[in-house]
Amino acid sequence: MNICVVGTGYVGLVTALGFAKLGNRVICVDKDDDKIGNLNKGIPSIYEEGIEEILRECLEKKRIAFTNDLSEGINNSEIIFIAVGTPEKDDWNIDMTQVHEVVNQISNIISSYKIIVIKSTVPVGTQRETKKHLREKGVPEENFDIVSNPEFLSEGRALNDFLNGDRIVIGCDSSKGKIIMRKVYEHFNSEIIYTLPETAEIIKYASNAFLATKISFINEIANLCTKVGANIETVAYAMGLDKRIAPEFLRAGIGFGGSCFPKDTKALVKIGENHGIDLKIIRSAIRVNEKQRLIPIKILLNKYGKLENKTITILGLAFKPKTDDIRNAPSLTIIEELIKNKARIKCYDPIATDKVKNMQWDILCYKNLYDAVDKSDCAIICTEWDEIYSMDLSIVKERMNYPMIIDGRNILDLEKVKESEIEYYSIGRLN
Ligand code: UDX
Repeated sequence: MNICVVGTGYVGLVTALGFAKLGNRVICVDKDDDKIGNLNKGIPSIYEEGIEEILRECLEKKRIAFTNDLSEGINNSEIIFIAVGTPEKDDWNIDMTQVHEVVNQISNIISSYKIIVIKSTVPVGTQRETKKHLREKGVPEENFDIVSNPEFLSEGRALNDFLNGDRIVIGCDSSKGKIIMRKVYEHFNSEIIYTLPETAEIIKYASNAFLATKISFINEIANLCTKVGANIETVAYAMGLDKRIAPEFLRAGIGFGGSCFPKDTKALVKIGENHGIDLKIIRSAIRVNEKQRLIPIKILLNKYGKLENKTITILGLAFKPKTDDIRNAPSLTIIEELIKNKARIKCYDPIATDKVKNMQWDILCYKNLYDAVDKSDCAIICTEWDEIYSMDLSIVKERMNYPMIIDGRNILDLEKVKESEIEYYSIGRLN
């Protein structure tokens, strides 16, 4: 099929490459000329393992092209996927500017039947509003259908999630649209759920909010474990054996980050508020997560009283491993708190240090872990990178000013920690 994808961020690029890999012809549109130039040269706009090879392969086979010209994309495609950013606003609402801009441009361009698929995470009701908007702009009804098709990909394994996801959700109110969407996803192994657009829009938010709540739940239990001398790892393992609970997303730590959970939980609370419903559980999950990030600061203040003239190392900046994405990462909150407490800060991350340099903080960034812990008074593990997991604790101890580690991701081997004689804190593990 001929497919147009608007937006070349995580969702857009992965969607475009996924469809191209399956043999479709894809035109990818973005208004950022630099990104388009790079993508046409085979340089991806996001960091994701394996994506560069697939990009080059699809370019070689001429299955994918990148342009800044939306009309080129629309006129040569039957289906248009909107995958532009929907950032959060300070009041927790979603900033829909980019989606509105694209919809407006589409309304000026289309002259024959197209399916417009909304992949960006958008507030409930967006499909219907978009439909109304196109009608008001004079686009004939027979020229379009609008479909809500939320994306569930997880960074670090995005393409695999796209191609082999647990489910595909299609929110569509037209039988013609449904038939075409069935064809679009005909070679996927996932169960497809056809439903109303509002239901599809809610499924995305409810799924993310549920997973985020699961994390906050286990983190609260971990905090209790610390107090009573229980072991969160055994608790989570035993809980996860119950098939009704399932083992995933029960890893205790300094909480969730990233471009989805923090934003989507807030947006869902806001959507509830806008409809007169107070979503108390999700509100609590957000609050628990915000507090969870501050646990390392509490431990540090307990130990040192004040942090002025102390050197603290952040091990891992990305919100999770295998990505350079630092959006809403717990490490950033911890750095901000350390800055407020006048600590000297050194950071290590195998790939995300450049992103932090853009924040113009007075901190030192290292790509070598042992240089980052040099003369440090405490190292805080914020990301479960393999490099951190397998660091040599005897070298770490030797290089630190005071050997202390706060393991915000519960990754270090407890036997090795004991042997190393480093002062060790975790989130609810028994040392
Ligand atoms: C998430 C969803 O998994 C995905 O389906 C959705 O489309 C987008 O949001 P992503 O943000 O890429 O994907 O990362 P994910 O692996 O889900 O982790 C999110 C955060 O939760 C990370 O900061 C991670 O460290 C944290 N987390 C995850 C925990 O703290 N404990 C866990 O048990 C699992």
